[in-house]
Amino acid sequence: MKRTLVTLHVNGATWEVAVRPHDTLALALRDGCGLTGTKIGCDMGTCGCCTVLVDGRPVLSCLTLALEAEGARIETIEGLAGAERLHPVQRAFAECGGSQCGYCTPGFVMTSVALLRDNAAPSREEIKAAIAGNLCRCTGYAKIVDAVEHAAADLRAASTGATPPTGGRGDSGGDQDDAGIHGRRQPAAARR
Ligand code: FES
Ligand code: FES
Repeated sequence: MKRTLVTLHVNGATWEVAVRPHDTLALALRDGCGLTGTKIGCDMGTCGCCTVLVDGRPVLSCLTLALEAEGARIETIEGLAGAERLHPVQRAFAECGGSQCGYCTPGFVMTSVALLRDNAAPSREEIKAAIAGNLCRCTGYAKIVDAVEHAAADLRAASTGATPPTGGRGDSGGDQDDAGIHGRRQPAAARR
């Protein structure tokens, strides 16, 4: 099938990926860009594992065509951490036990990052509502909600220069058909 070169702006870098019309953003990210942090669970829009941010909003990359994402600002789990430090949401998931096997975690983290950008102090009910589209088969969810609460506190403390609270933490594949998806990262000078 004829392939089209699509330009994807991912985590501040620009990629050209040769995709078929039906290739999803999830496949383009994983197989074209080599960004395998975005997971494919159900590949049908029910588990949230594949969540990435497109122009700041969480989207299911298994239900988004790669061609639809051209020109958008895409953020994946690989773009969150600094050179030496995890993003506060990633750190809170690790410290609170919000991740066990970890397969669902990138999706939860990206959903949580979007929530906390919109709402710096969400209630537990608001957190539960935000992550309602993300499924986890390991944790039982309570520690995930704990993690998002702690991350929110850390981010608020960081924004005011205060010392973040430290107590209480830890208490509580799809059809890949990927042959031929090729991607190429553009040199910095060519990035938009
Ligand atoms: S892999 Fe996209 S929602 Fe499950
Ligand atoms: S940590 Fe295993 S599915 Fe969520």
